[in-house]
Amino acid sequence: MKFDTKAVRAGIKPDPTTGAIVPPIYQTATYVLEEVGKDKGFDYTRASNPTRSILEENLASLEGGKHGICFSSGMSAVDAVLKMLKSGDHVVCSDDVYGGVSRLFNDLLVNYNLEFTYVNSSNVQEVGSAVKENTKLIWIETPTNPLLKVTDLEAVGAIAKSKNILYGVDATFSTPALLRPLEFGADIVMHSTTKYISGHNQIIGGAIITSNDDIAEKMKFIQKTIGAVPSPFDCWLTLLGIKTLSLRMKRHCENAQEVAEFLESHPSVERVSYPGLPSHPGFSIASKQMDGFSGMISMELKGGIPAGKKLMNNLKLCALAESLGAVETMITHPATMTHADVPEKERHARGLTDGLVRLSVGIEDVNDIIDDLAQALEKI
Ligand SMILES: Cc1ncc(COP(=O)(O)O)c(C=O)c1O
Repeated sequence: MKFDTKAVRAGIKPDPTTGAIVPPIYQTATYVLEEVGKDKGFDYTRASNPTRSILEENLASLEGGKHGICFSSGMSAVDAVLKMLKSGDHVVCSDDVYGGVSRLFNDLLVNYNLEFTYVNSSNVQEVGSAVKENTKLIWIETPTNPLLKVTDLEAVGAIAKSKNILYGVDATFSTPALLRPLEFGADIVMHSTTKYISGHNQIIGGAIITSNDDIAEKMKFIQKTIGAVPSPFDCWLTLLGIKTLSLRMKRHCENAQEVAEFLESHPSVERVSYPGLPSHPGFSIASKQMDGFSGMISMELKGGIPAGKKLMNNLKLCALAESLGAVETMITHPATMTHADVPEKERHARGLTDGLVRLSVGIEDVNDIIDDLAQALEKI
C-alpha cells in the first residue's frame, strides 16, 4: 500500500460484528474471559484495547515500522523511552528540543541519576564529540521546536550504529507524511500525536514506533506498567484525523511556504526560519530527507518584546494559542508565553530572543492568513 492508502486503511477492517466501516470505540475497561486462561486477546484496557491496537497498527504502517505503542501524551511517550535507561546512563540530546522535554530531563530525570548533554545536532560532529562511554541514547528532534533546526538523520544514525547507542527521533514537526526516521537508521520514532497526526486540536496523545522487537517488548511493558495510555475515544479521534494527514500536510506545506516568503520580504521582520527557504541553513538536508517542509515557521521581529506583543494583540484570524500542527493557524511569542518563566539570560543563550515568534500555519486560505499577518505587522 502507498502512504495515502495506508493513512485511510492500514489496520482498519470492517467491524466483525456489524460490518461498520469505521471501527467502533471500544469504551471498556475490561473483557470477559471465555473460561479461565482463555481470553480473546484482550484482558484489561491499560494493557491493550482494540481501538488503540488499530491506531498502533496504523501508525506503525505509516512509519514503515513493525510496532506502534501509544501513550496519553507526547510527554509520556518521551518519558517511556527514557524509562528504558538505568541510573548512571548518559543521553546526547538536541539543544533546541521542545521545552517540555528539556524540563522532563533537567528537572525530573536528573534526580534518577541520568545525565544529559545538549548539542547543536545540526552540526553532526557535535553529536559525535558528546558521546561518552556511558552514552545509551541519542535523542534528536527535527525540525526543532521552536527554532526549526534540521538534523541530518542518516549521519547521526551512522554515529549511533557505530557505537551501538539507542537512537530516537522526535518527528512531531514533520509527521510520517514528510519524514520517516526509521529509513535513516533511527531505532525509535516518537510523535506528539496531539499535533499534526490528529490534526484538529481535539486530543492530547503520543506514540512510539519501532521495528525492533526487543525495544517494542520493553516499550509495551513500560506502557502497561506506567499506564499512561490514551482513551479509546482519543484513539478513535486520532484515527479519524490520520485519514486526512496527507492532504492536510500538503496544504500546511504550501501555505507555510507562501507565508514564509511573504514574511521574509517584510520590513518589520529581521529574519525568518523555515526549512523550505533557501536561506535556512538546513535547507539542503531538509530537501534531501523530507518530502515537504511542514507548516512551522519562526521569525525574529524587529523591536523585541513590545513588537511581539503588538503583533499578537492585533491578529484577528491567527489564534494566540500554545499548541501547533492543527488546521487553525496559531501563533506564540515564546518570550511572553511558552518561555516566560525562563530567565532572560538563559532564554537568550538558547536563541529564544525577545522578538521571536512561532507560527503554526493552518490550512485556511493562505490569502486570509497573509492579510491578517500584514495588517498586524503594519501596527508594530
Ligand atoms: C516536538 C514536541 N515534542 C513533544 C511534545 C509534547 O507533546 P504533548 O504536548 O502531546 O505532551 C511537543 C509539544 O508541544 C512538541 O512540540
